[in-house]
Amino acid sequence: MKNGKLEIGVIGLGQRGAAYGMTDGSIGLLGNILNNSSDVVVTVVCDRFQERLDFASKRIVDHGHDMPIQTTDYKEVIKAGVDAIIISTSWDMHVKVALEGMEAGIPVAMEVGGTHNIDDCWKLVDCHERTGTQIFFMENCCYYKDEALATSLVRNGVLGDISYCQGSYCHDLREEIAGGIDTHHYRLKEYMEHNCENYPTHELGPIAKLLDITSGNRFTKLVSMSSKAQGMKHYIANNPKYSERLKDAEFKQGDITTTMIQCERGETIFLKLDTTLPRMCERGLTVSGTKGFFCQTTQSVVVDGDGFNHELDPYKKTFNSAENYTEYLPDGWKNITQEQLKSGHGGMDYLMLKNFFDCVKNNKPFPIDVYDAVTWMSVTALSELSIAQGSMPVDCPDFTRGKYKIRKTVDVFEFPKL
Ligand SMILES: NC(=O)c1ccc[n+]([C@@H]2O[C@H](COP(=O)([O-])OP(=O)(O)OC[C@H]3O[C@@H](n4cnc5c(N)ncnc54)[C@H](O)[C@@H]3O)[C@@H](O)[C@H]2O)c1
Repeated sequence: MKNGKLEIGVIGLGQRGAAYGMTDGSIGLLGNILNNSSDVVVTVVCDRFQERLDFASKRIVDHGHDMPIQTTDYKEVIKAGVDAIIISTSWDMHVKVALEGMEAGIPVAMEVGGTHNIDDCWKLVDCHERTGTQIFFMENCCYYKDEALATSLVRNGVLGDISYCQGSYCHDLREEIAGGIDTHHYRLKEYMEHNCENYPTHELGPIAKLLDITSGNRFTKLVSMSSKAQGMKHYIANNPKYSERLKDAEFKQGDITTTMIQCERGETIFLKLDTTLPRMCERGLTVSGTKGFFCQTTQSVVVDGDGFNHELDPYKKTFNSAENYTEYLPDGWKNITQEQLKSGHGGMDYLMLKNFFDCVKNNKPFPIDVYDAVTWMSVTALSELSIAQGSMPVDCPDFTRGKYKIRKTVDVFEFPKL
């Protein structure tokens, strides 16, 4: 801390870290910190590429801050004595960097992504338990308005006892994946080398939170299936930018991967990864309980006894609209400003970073901790195993080693009690 400001190192200055190469108005994590966190200063930046270091440094200086230390070696960030590290690299580096940061006693915020390696999950747990250093898993969707509303409805008993949740990562990423040949984006290699639910946590994180996974409940079994992989081949063959250079590329990743998870308390979860065929973006959270139903796509809340006509077109907003339930939203969403709404992914990035910095500054427990992180990330490795074994069910490890039975659920927001 210097002059009351947290000193932060950011490792990974690509699309997410610094909005490098983005043309859609994204500001990245760096822009969010610069615009919204007057008590935080980025003092060290790290990337493999000098032009990304220069790009990020210029943004920092243009905001009136001192020139940050630049480095291509993440170990230098750890040595620089920062108060916290943000990791926004490719997935393959997350755990390695996080472990070294935690060993040095520096709180780590780690971007989302799965892991192909269950051992890495145990390493994170063991490191946290030995050093006491916390890790914050940056699952920003836990902070989005829809997910917050669904969780608040569950906490308030409006939906009754929950039996089933569903979510998806539906996002046409064909250009990002193929474009990796120019941008060095890691997804190109990932999609060529693996076949799995490679990005489960945007939908699974909020679902796991509302089902008390790692605090009263746990995942017990998982089964995954992937369709054939033809979307990328088709896209490349029909795109002159890539058709010659990527003509020999083979993709293992199936176009659509579906995964089912069973929970100890009896709930089931359905996940869909859909990223290599044409479609619109969707997370599609649904929550089904004994008294009611929440649906993100149609923005509906259907509750027993509300007179809802079950034959009604779900897209026609009448009395089943989620807008009728805004009193259940946490204060963070009730009070959000227009400026904050513009600060990345419709406001959720702002609320997540604010929460992280507040926890670091005031030495509070992180609401999305190491046990949540590894339980959610491990779905990638487990789904890869299930698919490789002809879609056989696989057991899910209990990374809390039994502590889930006594751990108390910590939500990312304090929800109103109505
Ligand atoms: N939460 C969200 O909404 C959201 C959105 C986009 C991306 N992400 C996550 O952010 C992370 C980065 O994704 P991206 O799209 O920005 O990827 P990217 O490839 O654009 O950026 C990653 C950067 O990390 C750098 N890097 C890789 N290895 C490094 C190393 N050893 N040392 C220093 N720098 C290294 C690369 O050079 C690159 O600039 C991923 O984990 C991704 O899942 C999250």
